[in-house]
This record gives sequence, structure tokens and C-alpha cells, in this order.
Amino acid sequence: MRELAIHTPTSEYPIYITNSFDGLADALKKAGLAGRKLCIITESNVAPIYLETIKGLLGEWELSSFIFKAGEESKNLDTISDFYKHFIDEKLDRKSVLIALGGGVTGDMTGFAAATYMRGIPFVQIPTTLLAQVDSSVGGKTGVDFLGHKNMVGAFYQPKLVYINHKTLATLPPEQVAAGMAEAIKTAYIIDKDLLGYFNEHKAAIKALSDEETEHVIYSCCKAKAYVVSKDEKESGLREILNFGHTFGHAVEKLSGFKLLHGECVAIGMAAAMHLNMSLGKTTDLDLEAAEKLFEYFDLPIRADGFESEKIYEQMFYDKKTKDGKLNIVLLEEIGRAYTEKNAPADKVKAAIEHITK
Ligand SMILES: NC(=O)c1ccc[n+]([C@@H]2O[C@H](COP(=O)([O-])OP(=O)(O)OC[C@H]3O[C@@H](n4cnc5c(N)ncnc54)[C@H](O)[C@@H]3O)[C@@H](O)[C@H]2O)c1
Ligand SMILES: [Zn+2]
Repeated sequence: MRELAIHTPTSEYPIYITNSFDGLADALKKAGLAGRKLCIITESNVAPIYLETIKGLLGEWELSSFIFKAGEESKNLDTISDFYKHFIDEKLDRKSVLIALGGGVTGDMTGFAAATYMRGIPFVQIPTTLLAQVDSSVGGKTGVDFLGHKNMVGAFYQPKLVYINHKTLATLPPEQVAAGMAEAIKTAYIIDKDLLGYFNEHKAAIKALSDEETEHVIYSCCKAKAYVVSKDEKESGLREILNFGHTFGHAVEKLSGFKLLHGECVAIGMAAAMHLNMSLGKTTDLDLEAAEKLFEYFDLPIRADGFESEKIYEQMFYDKKTKDGKLNIVLLEEIGRAYTEKNAPADKVKAAIEHITK
């Protein structure tokens, strides 16, 4: 088991990364949560696989559970309202603890419910997707979609602890594993050159989800994200770098009608970003080629097949991070060090898009 301490200006909590659920009860006790009333929030795909195991391990606690329908379509205020009703029925109070058991959808919603029920109650993250283990469970962003707008309503709210059992990845559909890998590789490119080296050196073991290598990747990503978030909890500057590949990627994701997975679009977006990076003279054509090879190795797409480049370009201006009609594109000063480019020439941005649509 590996352990990481997360420090933000508003809180401090541990992340455990391990290969079983055996240490969960102890982790809760260590966080001062012994004797509290617990409520596990999970969804229809995860519950049949893991809920009974978790309940069995938490036999000492008074416990209820709530299962919602899996999927982004459930990530809305109606589902949150169902959560609140359950909390009231179960007489949860300010000392009760919510446990998010599932992927990013479950974590974001449980965190939001925890931030708002009775003006805030504690919660714990047990992320079960790779995306949630390397990205969404760290950093304290919680929320729901509203009227088709992603993550429109939410709060910054930190958990009491994050417990990652990477063995849960064994039941995750392969395309979901790949999508999580895209965010992990992104982390390597923006802030951790050693991790990028590790990815290249151990790619077969990582792809096979071998214990040691998987743990190392998750640990490195959590550490990097924790560093970024500790410097910039509420996204005023540094945190922007987490959006490497995302300005292009979000545009493709939106145009696909959210049919492509987020992580897949991030891989395509990183291919575009690496192209732009190259034409700005910061990295080379070999870097671009190496990145694309790595994405392909992990079964990630690198081209937006069937998309019009003009449409992608237009769509980029709707990005949340676009300020005053100017594109803010996260690029690399060098491999392992990101910055935000506010003045990328339009022709070079367009050439980068041509590269991913050709
Ligand atoms: N808070 C943040 O900082 C942050 C960052 C990135 C993404 N997000 C959010 O995360 C969400 C995406 O997260 P996600 O990709 O984990 O989606 P998800 O929670 O929908 O999980 C993906 C799929 O995997 C299934 N699943 C989960 N764990 C499983 C397991 N162990 N075995 C089998 N199936 C399993 C789910 O039922 C679902 O079908 C989005 O809503 C996004 O906005 C939040
Ligand atoms: Zn992302």
C-alpha cells in the first residue's frame, strides 16, 4: 500500500493506493470516522460487483446504501434530490459520512451532495475507474450537469480520504481503462517527465494492469495532481495545465455528441496540441510521433475521423477556458513542463486541427 498526504489551503487528507479493500475499515478509523453513520452511494454497474464486499468490510458501522442508474445521464439535480430524500429517510445528520463507490460520475455527485446536504457533511472517495483514480477523485471539484451543460452546478469540496483499490480496474471495460490512461499520460507530459519515461519503459506491464506498475502510475498521477491543486485549489492559474489536450479535445467531444469518451478526445486533443507545440518550435516532430505511438499502444484514437476541421476550430471558442474570445491553449515549454499559450497564431492552430482530421 502506498499513501500520499494531500494539503490544500482548506484541508488535509490521505490517499491510499493498494490492491485490495482490506485496509478500508482502518483507513476510515484513522480519519476519525469510527462510530459514524455511513451511507454508500453507488450505481447500477458497480453495485452488483463491489457493494456487498464493501458492506461486509464495514460491518462495525451503521450503514445504508443508495444505488442510482449508471451513466453521465444520471449526473443531474434530479438524482441529487433522490440522494437527499434517502438521507432524510435514513436520518443522516451532520456527523454522517457519505462514501462514493464508483467512477467520476459517482464521485462528483456524492461530493456535491456532501457539500450541500445540511451545509456540508464529510465524504470519502472509493474510485473504481482509472479516470477517477488518476484524476477526478483528487482535487475537490464536485458537481452535476445542468440543461445539457457539463458540470454547470457544483462546489469545491474535499473528501476526508480517498481509498484506491486498483484491482477494481479488472472489471472495467477496456475502452474505459484506455480513456483513463489518456489522462495519466497527459499528467506525465505536463509535469512528470520521469513518469513519461516509465510509461515508455513499462508499457506492456502497465497495459496488463500489473500490480506494481499500475500502483506506480496511479501514485504518480495523484501526486502530480495533488501538487497542482495544492498550489491552486480553486483554479486561478497553475491548475489550467491539467487541460493539456482539452481545448482541442473538448471541441471534438462536443461535436461527437459525447459519443466518444472524454479520455479518447483528450488523446486526439493531445495529438493536436503536440502538433501545435511542434510548429511553435517547442518540441519536435519526433516528440509528436512518440506521443502518437504511445496513445496508439494504449488503444487510444489520435485522429478525429469524419470531423470537419472548420467546425472543430469554431467549437474551440466555446470552451469554458476561452477568455474574451481568445483561445487559451495549454502547451509544453518542453516535455514535462506545461504553460498556457494565449497567443497561438490562428494558422498554426488550424494546421494542428488539419493534422488530426487528415
Ligand atoms: N472532479 C473532477 O476533477 C473531474 C475530473 C475529470 C472528470 N470528471 C467527471 O468524471 C466523470 C467521468 O468519470 P468516469 O469516466 O469514471 O465515468 P463513470 O463514473 O460514468 O464510469 C464509467 C463507466 O464505468 C462503469 N464502472 C465504473 N467502475 C467500474 C468497475 N470497476 N467495473 C466495471 N464497470 C465500472 C460505470 O458504471 C460507467 O459505465 C464525468 O462526469 C466528468 O465530468 C471530474
Ligand atoms: Zn480530462
